[in-house]
Amino acid sequence: MSLVLKGGRIVNDKITYFSDIKVEDGKIVEIGENLNTENCEVVDVKGSYIIPGGIDTHTHFDLDTGATITADDFATGTKAAIAGGTTTILDFATQSKGKSLKEGLEEWHQKAKDKAFCDYGFHMAITDWSDSVCDEMDEMVELGVSSFKLYMAYKGSLQVDDSVIYKALEKSKSIGGIIGFHCENGDLVCELIDKLLKENKTSPQYHCESRPPILELEATSRLMKIAEVTKAKVCVVHLSCKESLEEVLKARQRGVDVVVETCPQYLLLDEDKYKLEGFEGAKYVMSPPLRNVENNSILWKALQENQIDTIGTDHCSFNYKGQKELGINDFSKIPNGSPGVEHRIGLLYTYGVSTNKISINKMVEVLSTNPAKIYGLYPQKGTIEVGSDADLVVLNPNKTKVIKASEQVQNVDYTPYENYRLNCEIDRVYLRGNEVSRNGKIICESPKGKYLKRSSN
Ligand code: URP
Ligand code: ZN
Ligand code: ZN
Repeated sequence: MSLVLKGGRIVNDKITYFSDIKVEDGKIVEIGENLNTENCEVVDVKGSYIIPGGIDTHTHFDLDTGATITADDFATGTKAAIAGGTTTILDFATQSKGKSLKEGLEEWHQKAKDKAFCDYGFHMAITDWSDSVCDEMDEMVELGVSSFKLYMAYKGSLQVDDSVIYKALEKSKSIGGIIGFHCENGDLVCELIDKLLKENKTSPQYHCESRPPILELEATSRLMKIAEVTKAKVCVVHLSCKESLEEVLKARQRGVDVVVETCPQYLLLDEDKYKLEGFEGAKYVMSPPLRNVENNSILWKALQENQIDTIGTDHCSFNYKGQKELGINDFSKIPNGSPGVEHRIGLLYTYGVSTNKISINKMVEVLSTNPAKIYGLYPQKGTIEVGSDADLVVLNPNKTKVIKASEQVQNVDYTPYENYRLNCEIDRVYLRGNEVSRNGKIICESPKGKYLKRSSN
């Protein structure tokens, strides 16, 4: 049976308007006022916004760090995503040392298979460069993986050097790909960690001291130069501070093709969290770390001025009990990362749109439309148009909600946003026309997520 969402306010990246939406076989087939509803299931969505399903292009589900495995796997992570209005995620398939990209991709397909409650795709993280890995990048594109990831930090495990960055960018340019970069100078991070530990500085607040903004600036600046030489398209992921933003803006002036992602935590939280009593600061141990409060407003302004392109969560969840506690005597052993996929849209609506920092169209642009355009999913995803997938989110601005770890869907024992008030509720979420979540709770029994083969540019 066809479905009609009646009387809502449709929000795309450039326009908001009242209209009905008709859905058949998972696609939007008609948009207009007073659509014929004969033989249709009709859902009254008056008073609500209808936004395109969120696309979170930065998650780490079922990630084994060596010391522990993320609290969320593809089942719980994607359930949390749809509960919060995100209908597509892109996770980081990662090459293990000594293995091929194909093996890494296959490993991630197995992790997601029959588990994903939302649609999903993969970026491919390259950790062990060789000529054959270079050749495999072509195959990745054929397999629907048109974006890659390189880490300039995490020395001894994920980190790559400048010549790998250069070679991978040359290749990526030739195949129309994009490479996302974790920008921190990993060598210096290690030096600072050693120095702090030698001084017996072991608590979570020293995580922040071991990764100052200047190290993010240095890596971002270096990347901008290599991107300039190669003329390849790059993304600075989880950009956290003014210093690296300025570096990106200067590079754009020189013609560097660079997109910027930030995350809700860098807009809403600050480094004072590391001063919380006892070991509480460990909940906020992530890389890059939270910055001082001035950076929050600088990033909001950058969003307003179209300098930031996407907001992903970098969802990488570890329980406080038993996992974050691995670093109770040594901050460098605290697993890096925090949860966020469930609350990205509610937080952006509440602290961005309803406080008039950004328009609701800007919100849709950075949470859905730009991610779809940048990562080869548009217009199948990222917009409400005839012919697009019916990934539709009914966002009710007349309800409120308070975030509580005890009520969340994500499978982790805390949230960085405990007791944050939301000025909205995600009433209903449709994934290709199937209602999968209602009032923040999952209503589909079995996983309906599909793998998305993405195109290159
Ligand atoms: O602390 C973080 N961000 N953990 C996840 C891995 C990464 O660097 O993106
Ligand atoms: Zn990273
Ligand atoms: Zn990440």
